[in-house]
This record gives sequence, C-alpha cells and structure tokens, in this order.
Amino acid sequence: MLKVVIFYFSGTGNTWWVSQQLAQAFRAKKAEVSVISIERVTPNEADLQIVDADLIGFGYPIYGSDLPQIMKDFIGHLSKVQAQPTFVYCTQWLWSGDGARVGASFLEPQGFKIKWGTHFLMPNNVCLPIPLLPFTNDKERMQGQLRRASRRVNQFVNAMIRGKQVRKGFNYFAQILGAFQRVPFRKGFAAMRDSISFDDIRCTRCKLCVQYCPVSNIEVEDGTLLTKGNCILCLRCYNFCPVSAVTFQGKKHNHKKGEPFRGPVEGFRPN
Ligand SMILES: Cc1cc2nc3c(=O)[nH]c(=O)nc-3n(C[C@H](O)[C@H](O)[C@H](O)COP(=O)(O)O)c2cc1C
Repeated sequence: MLKVVIFYFSGTGNTWWVSQQLAQAFRAKKAEVSVISIERVTPNEADLQIVDADLIGFGYPIYGSDLPQIMKDFIGHLSKVQAQPTFVYCTQWLWSGDGARVGASFLEPQGFKIKWGTHFLMPNNVCLPIPLLPFTNDKERMQGQLRRASRRVNQFVNAMIRGKQVRKGFNYFAQILGAFQRVPFRKGFAAMRDSISFDDIRCTRCKLCVQYCPVSNIEVEDGTLLTKGNCILCLRCYNFCPVSAVTFQGKKHNHKKGEPFRGPVEGFRPN
C-alpha cells in the first residue's frame, strides 16, 4: 500500500482545506495518508515520518511568490534524505508565477526529489486596509472556487498515481514572473514583520491572537499585548480577532471590505 505523508502550513485555512482534500483523494486510491500541520510536529518527528513514507507532500500558502518563513525554517531543519519522491503545492488567490517551484528550490538541496508541483486557486485571505486591494467574502463565489479546487486536487492525485509528471510554473518564464513579485517582497519582508499592533479600545484581552499565532509573536505583558517583530504575515491574528482589534501598520480593519476571511468553510478555527 502506498504510504503518503503530507506536511502543510496554513495561516487561515485554505491550505488546510486543500491538504484534507488531497488526503481524501489519495485514500480513495487506497493509499495510507497522514496529514500533518508543521505547527504540530518537530523536524525530528517529521524525519521519522519521512523515512517511512513512499511519497511526501509539502503545502503552503504563497506570500508574494515566496514561501512562508515558518515553512522555510521547517524545511531547513529537516534531515537530508536520499531522493525521496516528493510533491509540492501552494495555495494562492490569484497568481504566483512559480509558487510550487520556489518550494522545490528549498526542498531539493535537502535531497527531496520533486516530481510534481502545482498551484491551487483559493479565496483571498488578504483583507487589509490597503486602498485598491480587492477583497470579497462572497460565500457563493467561494463555493465555486472550492468546487474547482477540489476537481484540480483529484486531477493532481490521479496524475501522481499514474506517474504522470506535473510541474506547474517550473519553466523559466514562470520563474522570471515570480521573481518580479518575490524580489521586492523579500526586500520588504524584514520591515513588514513588525506591522501588527492592537487597538486598545476594541481589544477585550481574550488572547485568542496569542493562542493562534503560529510563531509566538504575540505576548501579554502587564495586561498589554506586545509583538516581538517575528510576524510571518499569515494574517491569522488579524482575520480571526473576534472584534477586529488587530491593526496592520496602525490601520484598523475596514468593515466596508467585508468581514475578514476566516477560512474556506463555516466555523473554521485555526487550532
Ligand atoms: C502576506 C500575503 C501575501 C500573499 N501573496 C499572494 C500572492 O503573491 N499571490 C496570490 O495569488 N495570493 C497571495 N496571497 C493570498 C494567499 O496566498 C491565499 O489566500 C492562500 O490560499 C491563503 O492560504 P491559507 O488560508 O492556508 O493561509 C497572499 C497572502 C498573504 C497573507
């Protein structure tokens, strides 16, 4: 029986959803699948799962045509492997150019043999108060996106089972287009890591943000919420704050843009 292990990071639920769909599609092909959030496993524990698997998957949301820092760190701490067959996928709202290839570029030096890579279009999770940035929380539209993503998941799994190569965005053209977004994103990343703060009036001190932050960037000191400057921009605290007290670059959420994106399915909770 084919043994598959999937490691994923998901800030606000899209990549979690796609990872579950992938697992379902593999199980329908009689494979044994483990789906593991990288927030819940140490690299050493992951190493043990990896040596035991026939096929390994890595999934993440794309940020400015780049990998989330938490995924880069996780991959960097894995032990080197010997050419193990691996697939990579990213979720994106619109476009990343070479979103899967950029993941491959971190995995290949660790010995992973990337045979398949693809992108899944999912709802936009960026609902920041940035002028001209389009955002919609239209549930009907979301349902259509999920149906299309689900079909693509099945096609991707079928291709992998049949041994047919899929390497979306691995060509030079996609790489150049991706770099147009990635280079400025990487340049600005250090400065953006300190963009979150809190509206003292709205904040109820429920500490959900502290609990949800995947990199422990938020802490409470003498009843005040503070950040440590190591935000990875996943937007979980911003989107899931029940009273929208989390601000981005000092700006409050603009409710005219709609409620923040809180996962692809009703009632989704990051933990
Ligand atoms: C900081 C940041 C940068 C993003 N950059 C892109 C991008 O370059 N292209 C794109 O199509 N979507 C981009 N997105 C949207 C997300 O990749 C997309 O909504 C993803 O599915 C979210 O996954 P998650 O819910 O698993 O966190 C970005 C989101 C964030 C938070």
